[in-house]
Amino acid sequence: MDKLLIRGGAPLNGEIYASGAKNSALPILASSLLADSPLKVGNLPHLNDVTTMLELLGSMGVDVMLSDEMEVQVDTSSIHNLNARYELVKTMRASILVLGPLLAKFRQATVALPGGCAIGSRPVNLHIDAMRAMGAQIDIEDGNIKAKVNGRLKGAKIIFEPVSVTGTENVIMAACLADGITVIENAAREPEVIDLANCLAAMGAKIKGAGTDVITIEGVESLDGASFSVMPDRVEVGTYLTAVAMTGGRVKIKSAKPEYLSSVISKLELTGAVIISGEDWVEIVMNESKPKAISLTTGPYPSFPTDMQAQFVSLNAIAQGNSTVTETVFENRFMHVQEIARMGGNIILKGNTAVIEGIKKLKGAPVMATDLRASASLVLAGLVAEGATTIDRIYHIDRGYERIEEKLKMLGADIERIS
Ligand code: UD1
Repeated sequence: MDKLLIRGGAPLNGEIYASGAKNSALPILASSLLADSPLKVGNLPHLNDVTTMLELLGSMGVDVMLSDEMEVQVDTSSIHNLNARYELVKTMRASILVLGPLLAKFRQATVALPGGCAIGSRPVNLHIDAMRAMGAQIDIEDGNIKAKVNGRLKGAKIIFEPVSVTGTENVIMAACLADGITVIENAAREPEVIDLANCLAAMGAKIKGAGTDVITIEGVESLDGASFSVMPDRVEVGTYLTAVAMTGGRVKIKSAKPEYLSSVISKLELTGAVIISGEDWVEIVMNESKPKAISLTTGPYPSFPTDMQAQFVSLNAIAQGNSTVTETVFENRFMHVQEIARMGGNIILKGNTAVIEGIKKLKGAPVMATDLRASASLVLAGLVAEGATTIDRIYHIDRGYERIEEKLKMLGADIERIS
């Protein structure tokens, strides 16, 4: 199994491009199920999760083709199986995103229940309740969500509590082909929801309010294919910026969208980093020998993203001063803490808060990736640690970071993939 070997200590300098956003690519690929003609999706990142979604569509009989412009063209006219199998769903919870589109377009779907996951129980009850409210009949049988609807789904008022990103996306997609108007209250405001809504609008959907907490969708009879380019990955960009705040140096990231990163950028500025940005680029300059410690609490967008929490735990582990990092979105999302402690980090967990005392230096050690963002935090820790760090189980990182070792190497890091 592949591992990453990092010898820490090098500052990061240079330029890289941001990849397309995983969390936008996944719902957009699922939305192809709604269209009567092929959907072309550009700027897709080469990631295991994207491959899993394409495999899932392929397993239903959907035709997936790579076009000359490196766009993926998804044609659902040959679909013959409305079943999302457990083998694929268990590797990627976002597979639940096919539930809404399948029900809306084909009026039935069987989607395996995702089951537990490393960062908490992560149920899908909100997705199921919303589809029921729209008129679907849903039974849980043999570990599967078996859903069907007589005629079209019906527009409904859906109130999310708690706010759910993929839940909001599932309802938006289902509502596009439902009969009547759907209003989502306490909707997720994440930029990826806006990206999905923009793609659906290009396909002919009528959606208002994406990016706010009330989204209104007027169902239409049918949607066409379109050509759409996925937005840049704000978590990937945030991760590289955090790396530079830790290692020192100067890095420019092109094809980024810094307007969606303001909660992260304002925290990075408090560490002592200088950040300059334009509409589609962002540059960080870190001249301080060490970042200042930063306390934070995660929350739904526009609050500080839970997907950046682990990276800031690493930053705080080597920062000047003490800090607290509180996780409010997911239970049990602190698996990285134990691993950073193996590198010498001084972190105590108190409920959903990590209390961190910044130390002078982490020491390289063999560590294990436990989930996607936890593995990113270990890479960052490895970049500043004294000596060699090997990170095992990096398939987690390949789910969400495109060519991470190549990008970091281009910036001067001593990092390689070994088997
Ligand atoms: C999405 C992102 C993930 C990010 C998360 C929070 C994708 C593919 N993934 O995950 O990277 O970390 O948003 O920003 O976009 N909940 C329920 N019942 C449900 C659904 C969710 O109780 O049916 C709870 C969850 O356990 C969690 C909270 O709601 O505590 C938010 O989760 P949610 O926004 O749904 O996360 P995902 O959409 O799975």
